[in-house]
Parts: sequence; structure tokens; C-alpha cells
Amino acid sequence: MNISRLLTTLFGIALFLPAFTNAFEDDESCLMCHKYPKMGRVTEEGVQKSYYVMPNVFSRTVHRNVPCRDCHSYIKELPHKPVKEGVTCNSECHSIENPSTGKPFSHEPIYNVFKESVHGREKIAQGLEKDKPYCITCHTNPLYNEAEEAPPKEIVDRCVVCHEDEAFANKWYNHTSRRIREVKRSSKEIVALCSSCHADKELIDRHVKAAAKEGRELGRKFPYAAIAYQDSFHGKVTKYGSTDAANCLNCHASPKNYYMSVHELRPSRDPKSPINKANRVNTCRQCHKTADENYAAIDPHPTHHKEDNLFNYYAEMIYNIVGNIALFGLVGMALFETFGRRRDGVNWVLRAGTSWRRKHRKRRARYSDQ
Ligand code: HEC
Ligand code: HEC
Ligand code: HEC
Ligand code: HEC
Ligand code: HEC
Ligand code: HEC
Ligand code: HEC
Repeated sequence: MNISRLLTTLFGIALFLPAFTNAFEDDESCLMCHKYPKMGRVTEEGVQKSYYVMPNVFSRTVHRNVPCRDCHSYIKELPHKPVKEGVTCNSECHSIENPSTGKPFSHEPIYNVFKESVHGREKIAQGLEKDKPYCITCHTNPLYNEAEEAPPKEIVDRCVVCHEDEAFANKWYNHTSRRIREVKRSSKEIVALCSSCHADKELIDRHVKAAAKEGRELGRKFPYAAIAYQDSFHGKVTKYGSTDAANCLNCHASPKNYYMSVHELRPSRDPKSPINKANRVNTCRQCHKTADENYAAIDPHPTHHKEDNLFNYYAEMIYNIVGNIALFGLVGMALFETFGRRRDGVNWVLRAGTSWRRKHRKRRARYSDQ
């Protein structure tokens, strides 16, 4: 590389940098303070909190076009007062309009089905409600766009024929192309997400006790669901990398309207649930084309707990007893045999591929050497 090219490159980077680190508009000057990495504090409960917002990371998240105060709407003035409230995901954006309705954009439609689901809760929840996931439990504003390449030039060129502005074309290309490709969590990620609560024994116990006290119904499989899934055929093959076997959401959410349905999880006793007895065959048929009522009755959360499955419980017990008898019988027989042979002066030595050898004729031989 000659010196003039190097200089041009460096100059190019220098020109590009400010645009890159502040790729979103900080109209409200929040970053004046929040761009400092050490910003944060330790709460009364002793939790270390970071108030650092990484501009070049934020500018690549899905929320990059949302001004800070559209979400942190409780901040009314600068410098702001200490804040206690959290961000609710169903509030209206003041700055972003929904192009299809012309109204301020909001996640309200998703929030409304979520509210009706098994996990429905308020942002600021009390007591056992706190155990349920809120939007940000599952959505942590990750870098969906990290690997996004520049839109193919031939497509942008085509948009520009009419839309004139290349930036407009780029922006909308990225917005739609991400949704046309199926961007979903992997099966393993979904199992880990649901299991982070449904395999938490203490959380489960709290809810089983509370439901019993309130006389409220919980699914028969509620206490075992996530652990038992690991023992199921689907769970095992998923663990070893299969992406075809059913994960939690393939059964608990409807494949039609998947992206809405994952927010509308209902218990199996609800007739609208895809795993309600009436709908179960169709749910299995997504993948098992020939499934019938009998096939659909196979337990996807198999356990051998007495109160869950009496047959498996006794089958497991008998299997253990028979297994143990066989094991102890074999070991016992081997011990008797060893004892008998030693008494006859035959010892166990590893030599030249054979193990039993008579060292010296001390006693009466029971077997002839030929
Ligand atoms: C003048 C400096 C300054 C500016 C400008 C500023 N902040 Fe802050 N911010 C702070 C300080 C200091 C704290 C820590 C306050 C505390 O510990 O209670 C904080 C804390 C926060 C918190 C966390 C509070 C909590 O207790 O959970 C949020 C959220 C926040 N700021 C958002 C914003 C937003 C949004 C803007 C822009 C509208 C903004 N800040 C602008 C100084 C600033
Ligand atoms: C899409 C909505 C959204 C946007 C846009 C957004 N935030 Fe946040 N921010 C959140 C959520 C949600 C949290 C997690 C805390 C909560 O639930 O209230 C959070 C947390 C924070 C915290 C830490 C507070 C804490 O209690 O841990 C700070 C500081 C902060 N944001 C500052 C900013 C700044 C500065 C911007 C603009 C560059 C911004 N946020 C843009 C939604 C948003
Ligand atoms: C129990 C976990 C969970 C909770 C709680 C949750 N979501 Fe989701 N959300 C998902 C899953 C799973 C998907 C499907 C896409 C994927 O797999 O990442 C999804 C998809 C979405 C999408 C579509 C994203 C896209 O680009 O296509 C939006 C928007 C969304 N959720 C918003 C919300 C809002 C708002 C809330 C709160 C009312 C919420 N979610 C609560 C798990 C959750
Ligand atoms: C033949 C001309 C033409 C081409 C090529 C074209 N568009 Fe359009 N586009 C239009 C017209 C005209 C409208 C508005 C009229 C309407 O509503 O149908 C529009 C509307 C839009 C809108 C809705 C804007 C809003 O705010 O309502 C988006 C987004 C859009 N086009 C993106 C694209 C993208 C991305 C491409 C390239 C892949 C593209 N268009 C190619 C003519 C074109
Ligand atoms: C943050 C913790 C958490 C996460 C993550 C979570 N759940 Fe839950 N789930 C709960 C709590 C708490 C309940 C409510 C128990 C009650 O009603 O007392 C519940 C209830 C349920 C129920 C209904 C139980 C019944 O019998 O009424 C189903 C079904 C369910 N969750 C499935 C899932 C699936 C599938 C996922 C993964 C996409 C998931 N959950 C993720 C905490 C969680
Ligand atoms: C092959 C389909 C399938 C898969 C995969 C699956 N489930 Fe289930 N799940 C069911 C069915 C069917 C029931 C109802 C069983 C019954 O009561 O007989 C159920 C019951 C439950 C229940 C009890 C509440 C209720 O609705 O009855 C919870 C909680 C639950 N599942 C969570 C999960 C979690 C978490 C995962 C992933 C780790 C998962 N399920 C994977 C089909 C499935
Ligand atoms: C998302 C797809 C999908 C869904 C939905 C699904 N399964 Fe499966 N299931 C699989 C795959 C893949 C295998 C592994 C098949 C193989 O390798 O032979 C499998 C294996 C099984 C097996 C063990 C072996 C066999 O070949 O029969 C049983 C039993 C089973 N599923 C039952 C069910 C039941 C009952 C339902 C509905 C409640 C269901 N599955 C829903 C994908 C699915």
C-alpha cells in the first residue's frame, strides 16, 4: 500500500467513525452522560447496575430508531430526577408512526394477547406474579443486525428507479428482508428459555402450593414438564442437535400465526390450546403425517412419578428389582466361583492373554489340565 492510499484510507476511517459510533440520533442528549462506561451504581439490594449505553451497539439493535424517551417516558426533564419506574412495552412511541395505520407505533396488540396468556402480567408485578416472564425476560434487545450485509446492489438500484433516495431503499430493504427470512430461536434456545423457569424446582413448588391454596387448577404435567421433556424422545434428539424434533413451542404454540401465538400460550385445559385433547392430533400431524388419536395420546412429558403415572412408577420399580437381582446374582456367582477356585489353588493373574492360572498344586485338583 503506498503512502497516499494509506492516508486516504485513514482519512476515510476518520470521516466514517463519528457517523458510525452515533449511527442513531441522540436528539435528547442522553449520551452526554450515558456514554461513560463506568456509569452505574449498586442498589439497596446490593445488585450492581450498569447505566452505560454503548452507542455503537445500540445503533445496530432493532430499537435503534426509537428515541430514548419514547421508552423511558418517565424522564421528563434533564438532568433527570432519580427514576424508579420501568419501561413498559405497550406504551406508544411518540416519534414513530405505524405506516399501515398512521397511528403512533406500539406493541399493544402483542401485549394484549400476552395479557390473556398463562404468563400475562404487569410490568411492575407483585408476589408470585413476579415469577412470570415479562417481554424483556425473553427479549433482551440483541444484535439481530450484526451479520446483516449491505442489501444487494441490483435490488436497491431497482427501488431507486422510483424512490430516488438510496437511504430509504436500504432501510426498508433491511426491515423487510429480515422478516421474510425465518429468524427464529433454535430449538435448543427455546428449551433453555422455558426450562429456566419450568425446571426451577423452587419456583414450581411455590406455584403448586399457591394454586392448591387458591383452589386454582394447574396442568397435570406442570410440576414435571421441563425435566420430563429431557427424557422424552423429542428432548433427547434435540439435545444431540436435531432441529426437526418438537421443541416446547412447536406443541404449545400454533404454527399458524406463530409469531403471535408464542405470546398467547394457554394451558392444555383451554380449548384454544394446540395441545388441548381436541387439537392434539393436528399438532402432532405437523410433523408425524400419519398420527392418529392413539399416537397423539403418547405422553410428551413422560415421568415415573407415582402421582403422575402409576404404570411407569411400578414398571420402573419392578425393572429396578429385577435389574438388581440379576446384578447381585451375577456378582455373587462370580464371587463364589473365585472363592472356590482360590481354595483349589487357582489364582487370577493376567498373563499371555489368559487370566486363571494354577500357580502350584497345593490341593486336590478339581479339573484335569488337559
Ligand atoms: C446530566 C447527566 C445525565 C443525562 C443527560 C441523562 N442521564 Fe440518565 N442518569 C444519570 C445519572 C447520574 C443516573 C444515575 C441516577 C441514580 O443513580 O439514581 C442516571 C440513570 C438513568 C437511568 C436508570 C435509573 C434507574 O434507577 O433505573 C435511566 C433509565 C436513565 N438514566 C435514562 C436516561 C435517558 C433516557 C436520558 C435522556 C433523556 C438520560 N438518562 C439523560 C445522568 C444523566
Ligand atoms: C425500546 C425501548 C428502549 C429504548 C429505545 C431505550 N431503552 Fe433504555 N431500557 C429499556 C428497558 C426495557 C430497560 C430495562 C429496565 C426496565 O425494564 O425498565 C432499559 C434500561 C436502561 C438503563 C438502565 C436502567 C436500569 O435500571 O438498569 C439505562 C441507563 C438506559 N436504559 C438508558 C437508555 C438510553 C440512554 C437510551 C437511548 C440511547 C435508551 N435507554 C433507549 C428500554 C429502552
Ligand atoms: C416467554 C418468552 C416471551 C415473552 C414473555 C415475550 N416474547 Fe415476544 N417472542 C418470543 C418468541 C419465542 C418469538 C418468536 C421469534 C423468536 O423465536 O425469536 C417472539 C417474537 C416477538 C416479536 C416478533 C419479532 C420479529 O422481528 O419478527 C415481537 C415484536 C415480540 N416478540 C414482542 C414481544 C412483546 C412486546 C412482549 C411483551 C408483551 C413479548 N414479545 C413477550 C418470546 C417471548
Ligand atoms: C415502479 C416503482 C416502484 C418501485 C420499483 C419500488 N417502489 Fe416502493 N413504492 C412505490 C410507490 C408509488 C409507493 C406508494 C404508493 C403505494 O402506496 O402503493 C411505494 C411505497 C413503498 C413503501 C411504503 C412507504 C410508506 O411510507 O407508505 C415502501 C416501504 C416501499 N415502497 C419500499 C420499496 C422498496 C424496498 C423497493 C425495492 C425493493 C421498492 N419500494 C420499489 C413505487 C415503487
Ligand atoms: C420467567 C419464568 C418463565 C418462563 C421463561 C416461562 N414460564 Fe411458563 N410459567 C411460568 C409461571 C410462573 C407460570 C404460572 C404458574 C401459575 O399459574 O401459578 C407459567 C405457566 C405456564 C403454563 C401453564 C401452566 C398451567 O397449568 O396453567 C404453560 C403451558 C407454560 N408456562 C409454558 C411455557 C413455555 C412453553 C415457555 C417457553 C416459551 C415458558 N412457559 C416460559 C414461568 C415461566
Ligand atoms: C410433543 C409436544 C410437546 C412438547 C415438545 C412439549 N410439550 Fe408441554 N405439554 C404437551 C401436552 C400434550 C401437555 C398436556 C399433557 C397432559 O396433561 O396430559 C403438556 C403440558 C405441559 C405443561 C402443563 C400445563 C398444561 O398446559 O397442561 C407445561 C407447563 C408444559 N407442557 C411445558 C412445556 C415445556 C417447558 C416444554 C419444553 C421444555 C414442553 N412443554 C414441550 C405437549 C408438549
Ligand atoms: C416439530 C415437529 C414435531 C412435532 C410437532 C411432533 N413431533 Fe414427535 N417427533 C418429531 C421428530 C423429528 C421425531 C424423530 C423421528 C425419528 O427420528 O424417527 C419425533 C419422534 C417422536 C416419537 C418417538 C419415535 C417415533 O418415531 O414414533 C414419538 C412417540 C413422538 N414423536 C410423539 C409425538 C406426539 C405425541 C406429538 C404431538 C403431541 C409429536 N410427536 C409432535 C417431530 C415432531
